[in-house]
Amino acid sequence: MGKIIAFINQKGGVGKTTTTASVAAGMTQSGLKTLTIDLDAQCNLTTSFGITDFKVNTYNTLKGQIELDPIKLDEHFAILPSSVNLSAFELEMSAEPGKEYLLKELLEPILDQYDYILLDCSPNLGLVSINALTAAALYIIPLLPHHLSIQGLTKLLEITDKVKKRLNPSLEMGGIVLTQYNKRKVLHRDISQVVQEHFGNKLFKTVIRENISLAEAPSSGTDIFQYAPKSNGSEDYLNLTKEIINL
Ligand SMILES: Nc1ncnc2c1ncn2[C@@H]1O[C@H](COP(=O)(O)OP(=O)(O)OP(=O)(O)O)[C@@H](O)[C@H]1O
Ligand SMILES: [Mg+2]
Repeated sequence: MGKIIAFINQKGGVGKTTTTASVAAGMTQSGLKTLTIDLDAQCNLTTSFGITDFKVNTYNTLKGQIELDPIKLDEHFAILPSSVNLSAFELEMSAEPGKEYLLKELLEPILDQYDYILLDCSPNLGLVSINALTAAALYIIPLLPHHLSIQGLTKLLEITDKVKKRLNPSLEMGGIVLTQYNKRKVLHRDISQVVQEHFGNKLFKTVIRENISLAEAPSSGTDIFQYAPKSNGSEDYLNLTKEIINL
């Protein structure tokens, strides 16, 4: 049965897409069958795998216009691309009964085809993100080591609590992962300590260091392990993948 994990944070540019893509690639390397789903109308996850020409996407499958048929990138790895149309989804579905359950319903028939289904959320807590939290078993929060990031966490946790109470009682926090981390910066060390004090073992031991290869890999249409196998980014995401598999 595929375990669904949502990578979520309403703050932009914190590493949601990089983490989804890299953890998916790490899982695939371990022989796990992995599906990634791009839930962002910006389509960054989709383009980071070099996909430009596709018919089936999150928008038309969630709307029930077309049958769910993810793109198989290799034997173990598939992706459901996004579409710019997804930006209108919330408005169009405002009167749809059970609109929070559409993704859960869509994925149920294919759960047994994968070990993991990873959801790359957009930087907001609108209907598509609520669908992600309603479908997921776990949510993982990529977090930049800044003070403003911690403030944003309160709002995010308010929403995840409400989703757990009203829509998905089995939802649990998988953990918080610090991204773009530089241990030489006092601020980064301080934030790491604050998060550790508040969240204890929910803070992943692995921190994702600042690494230029992680920023470069998407433009090559491949993942960090193929693009720069010896980079810090590759090492960190391999370690994070192991922690996630062991959750
Ligand atoms: N560890 C890292 N070191 C250096 N650059 C990184 C790192 N992680 C991500 N980046 C870069 O930072 C930018 C933001 O990352 P990413 O797109 O993964 O964030 P996001 O949370 O998905 O953003 P959005 O909210 O817009 O969807 C990208 O250009 C990415 O390549
Ligand atoms: Mg993104």
